[in-house]
Amino acid sequence: MTKLRPDGEATLRTDPLAPGADVSSGRLRRAPENFLTPEDIRQVGRGRRDFLRASFLTAAAATAATVAATAGGRAAAAPAATAGIGDPDILNPTPWGSSLGQPVAATPYGLPSRHERGLVRRQSPGLTQVAAASVSFAPLQGLFGIITPSGLHFERHHQGWQDIDPTRHRFMIDGAKPGFVKTPKVYTMDDILRLPPVSRMHFIECGANTGMEWGNVAVPTVQYTHGMLSCSEFTGVPLRTLLEDCGADLKAAKYVLAEGGDGSSMTRTIPIEPVLSGEVLVAYGQNGEMLRPENGYPLRLVVPGVQGVSWVKWLRRVEVGDRPYATKDEAVHYIDLMPDGQHRQYSSVQECKSVITTPSGGQTLMAKGYFTISGLAWSGRGKVKRVDVSVDGGVNWVEATLQTPVLSKCLTRFTLPWSWDGQPALLQSRAIDETGFVQPGYGQLRAARGSRSIYHNNAIQTWQVAENGDVNNVQIL
Ligand code: MTE
Repeated sequence: MTKLRPDGEATLRTDPLAPGADVSSGRLRRAPENFLTPEDIRQVGRGRRDFLRASFLTAAAATAATVAATAGGRAAAAPAATAGIGDPDILNPTPWGSSLGQPVAATPYGLPSRHERGLVRRQSPGLTQVAAASVSFAPLQGLFGIITPSGLHFERHHQGWQDIDPTRHRFMIDGAKPGFVKTPKVYTMDDILRLPPVSRMHFIECGANTGMEWGNVAVPTVQYTHGMLSCSEFTGVPLRTLLEDCGADLKAAKYVLAEGGDGSSMTRTIPIEPVLSGEVLVAYGQNGEMLRPENGYPLRLVVPGVQGVSWVKWLRRVEVGDRPYATKDEAVHYIDLMPDGQHRQYSSVQECKSVITTPSGGQTLMAKGYFTISGLAWSGRGKVKRVDVSVDGGVNWVEATLQTPVLSKCLTRFTLPWSWDGQPALLQSRAIDETGFVQPGYGQLRAARGSRSIYHNNAIQTWQVAENGDVNNVQIL
């Protein structure tokens, strides 16, 4: 059963299986991502991170006296009246029920409702010096199911994004040594679009996702802790098909080098195994349409399960080779600083991880009672087998329901009905994948990896629910 959301409130989802569930309880106030003013952002840009924290606290307090503005932004402080039999919005004629609506194609490319305008990707103020070499985070707290709408897909560019003319885009395959590729070729987009396509759903996660949290709690909401994560249906041609078309020597080949067409000289070594298995795609489609420019239009590499940096965008060349290339983005960046001071290279696979997206940091539980805990789980090694949820900081665990489909190297949505008794709670999720890998806690992860790394933080996330219903980011070892 679903209730339409009042302004400023998250959708109430109730589990029809929960007997006696009170559907009027369990409403959420949304996170205050919208609250930073341009001045706040300038302050943080000058290095004042304490200011950022203060801004979030002030913003959260301010909502306690504010009337709802937009759905994704400032939200109602007092719980909106619960709908009942005498509710005027069910009794009286409505403007939308007694007037002529908009004509077809008024918006030739459809847009979300204006009531959803607060749900957008966002930059973390002060994270980088220039916005062309930065990140925008996907608003995981407001998404349902597993597919990320293309316009909300996170972005990570090293030198800005380009909107390349597809008629001028070229894709080349050649070899590092003579004989590796019998007939090096240059393809146009038309050439690639003529080949038999495959469509597959996969997550992409930047290796730096949750990177700010290695040492301690750093950011308040799931958009910033985990929002370098998205999931789409990608359409394209297996790279193997194109290598065969060029007569590549698939026995001599041990690696390929993928090169992007933007100004960042993005080049990444990809081991040959996922190429031979047909997993690696030269993709042009995303969620049924062409890739968005921000995500690599007209061509990008899809390397399922592997950190986002290897999903080279604006793909212009693949070179067949027999050893790793140690390019700048694999020798200096995207390496793991280990506790003994050494760096670990080529740790590309995104290990099993999960996060509760609602209730999550910055939201407020507005009344005791029934809630649906909901989140995302994923593994770069295959399917998610199970997700356990704890509401007491990992003392007790309950197995969550996995929504279908559960696909390999794809996001999986989990849910668990929960009745909040108004007492402080510590919400956690712990995913287990089909290889048996169990998502670690912060204590376990830091024991193995230290706390000064940037990449591959897959620790269990904790959201603390305070007695007043506020949800905060905390860490439990
Ligand atoms: N490819 C090129 N050519 N240039 C880039 O800056 N960024 C990489 C990767 N591919 C990048 C690139 C990084 S670090 C990530 S995490 C993913 O693209 C992000 O993909 P998205 O912007 O589609 O989310």
